[in-house]
Amino acid sequence: MKTRLTELLGIEHPVMGAGMGGVSYHRLVAAVSAAGGFGCLGASTMSSEQLVDEIRAVKAITAEPFGVDLLTALPDRLMTDVDALIREGASVFVAGLGVPRDAIELCHERGVLVASMCGKVRHAVAAVEAGCDLVIAQGTEAGGHTGQVATMPLVPQVVDAVAGRVPVVAAGGIVDGRGLAAALVLGAAGVWVGTRFIATPEARSAPGYKDALLRTAEDGTVISRAYSGKPMRTIRNDWTDYHERHPEEIQPFPQQLVAAVGAGALHLGADETAEDVDPDREGYPAGQGVGAIDTLVPAGELVTRFVEEAEAALAGWSSAP
Ligand SMILES: Cc1cc2nc3c(=O)[nH]c(=O)nc-3n(C[C@H](O)[C@H](O)[C@H](O)COP(=O)(O)O)c2cc1C
Repeated sequence: MKTRLTELLGIEHPVMGAGMGGVSYHRLVAAVSAAGGFGCLGASTMSSEQLVDEIRAVKAITAEPFGVDLLTALPDRLMTDVDALIREGASVFVAGLGVPRDAIELCHERGVLVASMCGKVRHAVAAVEAGCDLVIAQGTEAGGHTGQVATMPLVPQVVDAVAGRVPVVAAGGIVDGRGLAAALVLGAAGVWVGTRFIATPEARSAPGYKDALLRTAEDGTVISRAYSGKPMRTIRNDWTDYHERHPEEIQPFPQQLVAAVGAGALHLGADETAEDVDPDREGYPAGQGVGAIDTLVPAGELVTRFVEEAEAALAGWSSAP
């Protein structure tokens, strides 16, 4: 399935694995890229040393291209980490927060593409004006930190605003090939998938996370500031319910993040060996597509399924009466 995205990234399928902090480590990223998609490390929960180790671990598994998503708001570390991702061989830097012009320049000087996460049309326009090479339009359905505009209205409006200059990738609530087909019909050049890729054997996760995804219905998530101080879509539980009743106890970002970690309600970057994780309190970010997930599927197989299902959906649609 060729699109502007596959051409730009030099990949086979227009399916990007989201760079999710705490989840998108080397096993998941390598599996997505090796299957012809485009995996991205979620480096927001990694130290700079760990980022380098993770990049090297991806390259030890596959020679296919991959990216790195950095959410960090710390300018010093941002430039060091961008330098590291370029040096170590990532081909795309995904800016999870804002459009750092210095970092964009550095990437372009050294042949690395820059993508920007956007929840509004004006963010996408600003990203393209700052030099970004592709824009990821993320709707409110998405897991993790998210905005207010839904994917269905957001994507075509971002497409109208910037697709004349750069490819637009759709994100938020996309869990199968029908979502990919819909994104293409809306004018996107591919999809950026988060939650569906957490329910894979390769994703890193704290105890209870994958089970929670399998049992949660489409209305089982909530946008809450209870874990980081910023609006984050996560699985509803006792911790989010409590803070819904007591919003006055929520501190701004990043103090609330520190408070949640300190209270044992958030185990950033933890794996299955972590102890004392209570699913009734733990932060398990997930999008509204979660209700469609009822089994773990290897990440590479998911990439193939996305494309096959999208092709079937598009063929079925065009031949419908
Ligand atoms: C556990 C989790 C962690 C995330 N961390 C990041 C992050 O560090 N940087 C970022 O740009 N987006 C992050 N996101 C958002 C994803 O990149 C992506 O846009 C979102 O998951 C897409 O929606 P979906 O989950 O419905 O597929 C995260 C999402 C989840 C579920």
